[in-house]
Amino acid sequence: MRTQVAIIGGGPSGLILSQLLMRAGIATVVLERQSREHVLGRIRAGVLERGTVELLRRAGVSARLDREGILHEGTNLSTVNGMFRVDFRARIGEVVTVYGQTEVTRDLYAAQDALGATIVDEAADVALHDLDTDAPFVTWRKDGAEHRIEADYIAGCDGFHGPSRQAIPAAKRTEYERVYPFGWLGVLSRTRPAAGELIYANHPRGFALASMRNPQLSRYYVQVPLTDRVEDWSDAAFWDELRRRLPPEVAEGMETGPAIEKSIAPLRSFVTEPMRWGRLFLAGDAAHIVPPTGAKGLNLAASDVHYLSEALIAAFGGDRAVLDHYSDRALNRIWGAMRFSWWMTSILHRFPGQTDFDQKIQEAELYQLETLESAQAAMARNYTGLPY
Ligand code: APR
Ligand code: PHB
Repeated sequence: MRTQVAIIGGGPSGLILSQLLMRAGIATVVLERQSREHVLGRIRAGVLERGTVELLRRAGVSARLDREGILHEGTNLSTVNGMFRVDFRARIGEVVTVYGQTEVTRDLYAAQDALGATIVDEAADVALHDLDTDAPFVTWRKDGAEHRIEADYIAGCDGFHGPSRQAIPAAKRTEYERVYPFGWLGVLSRTRPAAGELIYANHPRGFALASMRNPQLSRYYVQVPLTDRVEDWSDAAFWDELRRRLPPEVAEGMETGPAIEKSIAPLRSFVTEPMRWGRLFLAGDAAHIVPPTGAKGLNLAASDVHYLSEALIAAFGGDRAVLDHYSDRALNRIWGAMRFSWWMTSILHRFPGQTDFDQKIQEAELYQLETLESAQAAMARNYTGLPY
């Protein structure tokens, strides 16, 4: 088998890339380790920057997003001194769109099927070969048979645990990492959202977030120690803890119900540099991880794929030089989002061993955000998306 771009991973990065390349007349094959059902069952964040929405429009997968996505013109921050709002529209004339990543992935699979894309699911033992030559190839196993595909380029879109990043020799990459000493316990429930916009809460018992997917579906999180197990948290215990951490006026009227999904996620910042090795290009979680605070994961995957699709389309058009700039262009924006998600994480959570000094600094950060239009403008710019 032969193709122009072999794409490892059928998450949002791999599918948006395949969609953009196919629409430009470039042949792709996507290799995904899991079943399609598994991929479509994953629950992730749900806040899209304008650049992400525009990319999905260009990829021809925005019909439902344009109908069902909810525009949010601001967000709420809650502290022990009460709640305040940062108005994105008023500060910088921008908004975000609330639409779940699960729905984005569903729309992408439907669009790829309509284009007749080749997406191999349940591909086992995917391995990348001869990446630093002009004839790279990928091998995998499926249904007991060995398969091999040759490609002009290989896109590593296989998330944090995939093989692509590891295929770059250790001596050729530099990794940057911060691991945070807590996790997020998340619950999805078929209930009315607690408020019209998101609430990020800094509370002495720990961070909490009230988010949503649509007018009937809510997504909530509370900060928990990494030693907690999801089995330790009954629905009742979760709702009690969430109510304690949200502003009383919100907690009082909040609708609760059975958890449809409940899980604990660790928080980590991670970047590998460069995002290219020979004919392999990394995009999305394969190259970087952000803590969920600020919902940058999918949005960064989208900007990577924007730069990578542009570079690959130029290369197949005869201009290979653009490929040399992909890694630097992507990383410049990635570090901006790394800084923002680290900052939001650091001002909103309780850290083990947090001193009184640390506490006062957090309060001063939040007070500036409450009272300075310039601080709100900086937050609004980062939250709604740095320019591409
Ligand atoms: N072979 C083939 N596919 C693999 C392999 C492998 N060995 N390992 C992982 N994959 C697949 C995963 O099953 C997953 O479907 O690669 C895909 C990677 O998808 P994501 O982890 O979603 O990463 P990405 O597409 O970059 O999306 C980034 O979406 O999932 C979120 O948290 C993520 O928000 C971030 C954004
Ligand atoms: C979510 O809705 O899951 C969500 C929203 C905003 C975040 C993180 C997660 O910052």
